Amino acid sequence: MRYFDQAATSFPMAKAVADAVSEAILAYGANPGRGGHKLARQAADTLFQARKRLAAFFGAPGPEHIWFYPNATYALNQAILGFPLQQGDRVVSTAFEHNSVLRPLHILEKEKQATIVYASGKTGDETAAAVVEAMTPGTRLVVINHASNVTGEIVPLKPIATKAKEIGAVLLVDASQTAGKIAIDMEQDGIDLLACPGHKGLLGPQGTGLLAAARDVGLKPLVHGGTGHYSEHPEQPDKWPERYEAGTANTPGIAGLLAGLQELERLGGVEAVHAHEMEATRIFLEGISNHEHVHVVGSLSPQGRVAVVSFAIDGVSSQETAMILDEHYDMAVRAGLHCAPKLHNWYKTAEDGLVRASFGPYTKQEDVSALVDAITDIADAFR
Ligand code: ALA
Repeated sequence: MRYFDQAATSFPMAKAVADAVSEAILAYGANPGRGGHKLARQAADTLFQARKRLAAFFGAPGPEHIWFYPNATYALNQAILGFPLQQGDRVVSTAFEHNSVLRPLHILEKEKQATIVYASGKTGDETAAAVVEAMTPGTRLVVINHASNVTGEIVPLKPIATKAKEIGAVLLVDASQTAGKIAIDMEQDGIDLLACPGHKGLLGPQGTGLLAAARDVGLKPLVHGGTGHYSEHPEQPDKWPERYEAGTANTPGIAGLLAGLQELERLGGVEAVHAHEMEATRIFLEGISNHEHVHVVGSLSPQGRVAVVSFAIDGVSSQETAMILDEHYDMAVRAGLHCAPKLHNWYKTAEDGLVRASFGPYTKQEDVSALVDAITDIADAFR
């Protein structure tokens, strides 16, 4: 099957990633930090090496600033629901957020009477400008989808980070579609909290994700339980990462994530992967955007974006298009609302949804051309 659903999960995984998961399961995967024996120490060291590498990768201050979760959703929930918000505080976000941000924000609105402002514009630059304008004094938290999982458009962080610093707000970035896809440096970019999955651009397995904290913003832990140390304390210890990681870690998954980062390096790093993916995106955009019955939503440029493109075909619903691509062409795309309902309201595509194609480091140009041909066939057949 030709796979164009890299924005959901990177697939196929490198053999080195599968081998690292397998080795953890078969050779040393005891409980990290829960015992002093050799195997527990080896498992703990795998986690430490992964934290260390991820901290360097994202420009976080140190390994203890990286907290592991099952996915980006858990990381975002920890950041948003754990944020020390006071009743009635103001939060600024965008209409282009995923439900993993929208739903926790909805809870803050309901339970803390927080004022949530969703600022948006027609381009990434315009969205950043709208966010900055909405960041009036009294704004405590700003949550930004770094790149949309529907249009692929990147929101530049610099102006938002500068304003956040000025007014004392915390900047939380959902890097689900950008981690491993474009360079991110928390310090240089002014990011306070960064959430991302391990199973997309970082090329690790499902069941991995992380929250990186550049500084202590007073997050309350969402989950309470065993940390392997400080067992005499009735509460979660203050020490990081233990404070934010209760319960046994996903050692095999994190071993795979570490191998995923090594694979990313083997592929030439973020810049090389981005260049490869942008070439695939360029071929795709050029191939489908001239068809009078195919409509791309969002930017048509290979600049300022990641390799995610959504479109509609006249006369065919998004689900039907995806089904035809799957059944007749053996091609995987994702149709529907992509867990981003406000974005679809903004673009007026909520009724039928859109078809999304997304590319990764292993996507072949001839496969992208085959996808263009298949979409052209479908659009011609339904005209
Ligand atoms: N959030 C992932 C997507 O956009 C699953 O498909």
